[in-house]
Amino acid sequence: MEALIPIINKLQDVFNTVGADSLLLPQIVVVGSQSAGKSSVLESLVGRSFLPRGIGIVTRRPLVLQLVYTTCEDNQHRSAEAGTLELEEWAQFLHIKEKSSRTSMRSGGRLNGKQAELQETTKEYATSQYVPVGDQPEDIEIQIRDLLLYYISNPNSIILAVSSANMDMATSESLKMAKEVDPDGRRTLAVITKLDLMDAGTDAIDILCGRVIPVKLGIIGVVNRSQQDIIDSKSIKQSLADEAAFLQRRYPTLATRNGTPYLAKTLNRLLMHHIRDCLPVLKTRVTMMMSQFQSLLSSYGDDVQDKAQTLLQIITKFNAAYCQTIEGTSRNIETTELC
Ligand code: GDP
Ligand code: NA
Ligand code: MG
Repeated sequence: MEALIPIINKLQDVFNTVGADSLLLPQIVVVGSQSAGKSSVLESLVGRSFLPRGIGIVTRRPLVLQLVYTTCEDNQHRSAEAGTLELEEWAQFLHIKEKSSRTSMRSGGRLNGKQAELQETTKEYATSQYVPVGDQPEDIEIQIRDLLLYYISNPNSIILAVSSANMDMATSESLKMAKEVDPDGRRTLAVITKLDLMDAGTDAIDILCGRVIPVKLGIIGVVNRSQQDIIDSKSIKQSLADEAAFLQRRYPTLATRNGTPYLAKTLNRLLMHHIRDCLPVLKTRVTMMMSQFQSLLSSYGDDVQDKAQTLLQIITKFNAAYCQTIEGTSRNIETTELC
């Protein structure tokens, strides 16, 4: 996957530059009602605290996150241990302002600075796009719904439908929306958060086994950090250890098929297979667009011509890197047996 991430990031960059929304890049879209635990799930998956979390509407904007690895040398830092090149992580948000906008606001920076930065840009965004809670436009729900539908309608997106275990899964908004755009459930994976917050005497076995709502690609239960954990600055590492212990204790027979590490593994596999399946169509579409806009491109001069060439080169490179990466791994998506 490490080989693929930079290439996908590059694809995203190129497509943002040339404004090719219609290319429908493969991506994972996280959907869930307010405070279902979307930000928490993302943080656990990335293994770093970088999003604002909390009660109420906190994140309040669409985000595109890229994880970028650079060496210390690139950042003109020297590793303390001579001879080793420490990998440093950088996060980059590509805040796509609105679906009609072809440009993206970009900002690079260290991951630990992200939370504050995001809170800032969120504030800006919320002020310009959504006025604060309590004084929201009447159509706020329709606006949010449209925005979500825009992202999950992309047939090349994987929908991560997040619901919390202490709410009724049968009425889960995220699964209902996923069903609208993916009726066969070929690209929807369900995540059930807050397994630790279920009423005493109840458990999530029926939910996790797909007896409440079946989800073809799987239903994965997780335990994220609670609000108190966040106040106490519990680390993600500790949280993952606690999650594993909780699953062993409460769901011993289901423990290996639930939890954040299993979710990460499943998502990784899904995304890889998905990208492979998307590539031929993607390539055809790029080629078609290229010939369609050939004359237009020439009128823009050499620079744009070069970019279009780069695009095809990247896709070819991606294909090669992908084939290398999946070598030796199963080519078929395993169907997740839940029980
Ligand atoms: P979002 O609005 O969907 O992004 O939800 P957040 O990730 O901001 O989470 C909302 C609140 O629920 C926060 O206070 C989290 O700490 C808490 N939370 C999320 N997941 C869990 C969980 O699995 N267990 C517990 N106890 N709290 C959680
Ligand atoms: Na929230
Ligand atoms: Mg959030």
